[in-house]
Amino acid sequence: MADPAIARRYQELCTEIRRHNRLYYELDRPEISDADYDRLFRELQQLEAEHPELGSAASPTRQVGARPSGTFSPVRHTVPMLSLRNARDLDEFAEFDRSLRQTFLGGSDILEYACEMKLDGVAVELTYEQGRLVRASTRGDGLVGEEITANLLTLKSVPRSLQPGCPELLDVRGEVYIDLVDFQALNRRQEESGAKTFANPRNAAAGSLRQLDPDITATRPLKIFCYGVGRCSAALPASQFILLAQLRQWGLRVNLDETRVCTGPDQVAACFADLQARRDRLDFEIDGLVIKVNRLALQEELGEINRRPRWAIALKFPPRQARTVVESVELQVGRTGAITPVAHLRPVNVSGVTVSRASLHNWDEIARLDLRVGDHVIVERAGDVIPDVVKVLTAERDGSQTAVPLPTACPVCDSAVLKPAGEVVPRCGNGACPARTIERLKHFVSRAAMDIEGLGEKQLRQLIELGKIEDVADLYTLSEADLFALERMGNTLANKLLRAIEASKSRPLSRLIFALGIRHVGEHTAKLLARHFASLDQLANTDPEQLKRLHEIGDKVAESVVDFFRDPAQQALLAKLTARGLAPQTEAVVAQGGPLAGQSIVITGTLQHWTRQEIEELVERLGGRSASSVSKKTSLVIAGANAGSKLERAQTLGIEVIDEETFQQRIAGWEQA
Ligand code: IVH
Repeated sequence: MADPAIARRYQELCTEIRRHNRLYYELDRPEISDADYDRLFRELQQLEAEHPELGSAASPTRQVGARPSGTFSPVRHTVPMLSLRNARDLDEFAEFDRSLRQTFLGGSDILEYACEMKLDGVAVELTYEQGRLVRASTRGDGLVGEEITANLLTLKSVPRSLQPGCPELLDVRGEVYIDLVDFQALNRRQEESGAKTFANPRNAAAGSLRQLDPDITATRPLKIFCYGVGRCSAALPASQFILLAQLRQWGLRVNLDETRVCTGPDQVAACFADLQARRDRLDFEIDGLVIKVNRLALQEELGEINRRPRWAIALKFPPRQARTVVESVELQVGRTGAITPVAHLRPVNVSGVTVSRASLHNWDEIARLDLRVGDHVIVERAGDVIPDVVKVLTAERDGSQTAVPLPTACPVCDSAVLKPAGEVVPRCGNGACPARTIERLKHFVSRAAMDIEGLGEKQLRQLIELGKIEDVADLYTLSEADLFALERMGNTLANKLLRAIEASKSRPLSRLIFALGIRHVGEHTAKLLARHFASLDQLANTDPEQLKRLHEIGDKVAESVVDFFRDPAQQALLAKLTARGLAPQTEAVVAQGGPLAGQSIVITGTLQHWTRQEIEELVERLGGRSASSVSKKTSLVIAGANAGSKLERAQTLGIEVIDEETFQQRIAGWEQA
């Protein structure tokens, strides 16, 4: 058994990586750079290598992407869409090459590779039957993706029909991306219309593909490069390179001109160096090289492991870094009053992009870096995510550098700063602080909250300055005339905005709970709460004990929820919201029964299909309660691989035990009923 501290770190990493997967794949809202993500992923891989007893089939190292969101119809990929292993540097690639030759080719041959650009976009599959495009889907979790045919058909580079001579059946895979100039233009348009801007081209491509309205996708200048096949009814050519040429002949867009056939690791190294040198002059963002064994017969022989092919590896570029000076540190006040330090940097060009700010996160981070104003620092940029300071060059200090003290007063409203013992973040305690007001409004209208499109920071600030709004409830009193006072606001836009505001009145309760900005209540917790409370009133009248009985709700969240609803200012705001017509839709399933109503379910062993959290949520959505130990009161045990003592106990007590597949079949039955 692994040491408890290691097991804890393992769990932490799994949870953290799953959270970042969701932010990246489902919400298009990454919080960390790819390089930081890769660091977490590698730490997890290393832990699993050192402690094989920790790994499970549900580990993020054995999964691909994210599960489909449920907004579009599911599409099963007949041939699974795989992910890629990463090599950190050329040495790791040389090791990959050596191990392939040693293990599979007797150590002697020199391998030929097809080296392709690793495009930073979204993986999709196009299915052609009798030469006609019949379906397009996202990768999803590799096995099941989402149907996005109508959206893909808006891309000029996706042919509806293939050229004569194409196979009867063809699944072709490729990457949908957006050129850098188009990305910048799109963001300018988004900003002008008050819609949210995208953090980087990948997010813009992902967000554009996931539009419910294909007319919106049609306005986004997306492109595709195809790089592989799933099912193909015709015989495949000898190599990856010829396959790309073949795809081009059939009418598909491929990046053949930038694909190199390299023999052995030295040629691959030269190709990588050449690409890195040209990276910043390309029309689109790439994040490295994909190196594939060129011979398709050998690819077939090598197969896959952990949903990653043995015959391919991605060699990523190192993060873009530059050296500069911290000119000042600005303190930003967030919606909950949290004060965050942001470094203002002497502007520096980091491969084509001018960087002048970097997040410092908190004072623990400042202490860890030992950062002072005036310091020379190394900043790192990943995509267009706000850069990080990764290192302070302390040897460059000349004595003029000054520390960044913890603030005692709010930098915006000057009220006292609170910093309870044990918390790392100082907070402005004034609920009416102007900085907090604008952040609360921004949060309330944001996509994951009330989703009022067309109200960006600029518009909200103007509405405050014009005296039209003071709090979120005032949004519901805005008239067409009020909106006309905003810059660039015509008839059409104003009406669209009014409709968006009106529509937000009946969003699901979980969104409103999230939108209220209760401390420690993120999207996930808001959903949990909405599943148990049929209305905001019910939630407001609950007590901490009742909340703590809910699965996943701990002391911190329970106290915070109760404090929020006890606060007279919040009570007044909620009354105002109700008076102005807010009527969120209830999502409470527990209260309404469900096929597992009243049942206590224990889940044990390793599951293939769900993570522990996912299946527990599912059980609760179906009305059941998931319990951690088996007793006489247990109604059902769902057992995965290597189930141990809980399974034995269930058998002794004569409790029904089913496997994952049976549970899936039952759910399917309930859904049909
Ligand atoms: S091959 C079986 N080729 O990288 C190999 N992928 O991390 C899997 N990608 O899901 C795909 N450019 O979204 C391949 N030239 C390329 C690629 C490429 C970008 C993406 C793709 C894939 C991800 C794997």
